[in-house]
Amino acid sequence: MPRIAYVNGRYVTHADAAVHIEDRGYQFADGVYEVCEVAQGFIVDMPRHLARLNRSLTELSIEWPVTKGVLPLLLREVVRRNQVVNGLVYVQVTRGVASRDFVFPADTLSSLVITARKADPAAAAKRAETGIKVITVPENRWDRVDIKSTGLLPNVLAKQKAKEAGAQEAWFVDTDGSVKEGGSSNAWIVTRDGVLVTRPAEHGILRGITRTTMFEVAAKLGLKIEERGFSVAEAKAAREAFISSATTIAMPVVAIDGAAVANGHPGSITLSLRQAFFDVAEKSPA
Ligand SMILES: Cc1ncc(COP(=O)(O)O)c(C=O)c1O
Repeated sequence: MPRIAYVNGRYVTHADAAVHIEDRGYQFADGVYEVCEVAQGFIVDMPRHLARLNRSLTELSIEWPVTKGVLPLLLREVVRRNQVVNGLVYVQVTRGVASRDFVFPADTLSSLVITARKADPAAAAKRAETGIKVITVPENRWDRVDIKSTGLLPNVLAKQKAKEAGAQEAWFVDTDGSVKEGGSSNAWIVTRDGVLVTRPAEHGILRGITRTTMFEVAAKLGLKIEERGFSVAEAKAAREAFISSATTIAMPVVAIDGAAVANGHPGSITLSLRQAFFDVAEKSPA
């Protein structure tokens, strides 16, 4: 069965899916996106993802490409047509197609692309058993990383650097030495006292949907969360460290810049958060 993509009102085979060369997403990264996890046939936390999409669009004055109520139906339909039971659904909105000029075009319809892809939950579970390694890199992104923009070149370069170093994620570090977030995830540590620590999301990081839901998971498990900055040194000396994102949920971090976190094995609190996540998250039938 061929993969199917939704592109501006049409369902097309993935191999034939295309946008115009003057789409502003292509030319200026003038667009935003969301990634929702699909687990056991449910789209995870879809209302929160679509609320964040709305925020990103509003912050950039990009028009909704379809009426708001239609988008959940389109996401479901793309998941269904691709028979994704476990995987992800990706949605991207750009300011549309217009003759190349920096200023906003008048009367241009936003572009909408939706794709879905299968993933192997067993592979993710296996990865969580060993954990991942992260490297740290200096923050070099723009000031509005609270917007989920498709302009991800610093993230691409940071994650490539991580890969070349044998790691799976790169943490951006502020000029004051505090950890901001990963190239495609939020960063967390667990203190010696078992308190979860993550940077406040008011400014300087993306407010991850998984991060938001993790507060509810932690409450259910009776765990305390402190929203505050933490340094690379504090992370290296922590009892546990982990990342969160829609596609990784809570993924243990076992090494930072080559130094083992605790005994170099995934932490038990991280694994319990990971295990409890799906019970707590909102699940929309796909
Ligand atoms: C820079 C960045 N931070 C955090 C996240 C985690 O966000 P979410 O939990 O909504 O996937 C992502 C996800 O892609 C990201 O790109």
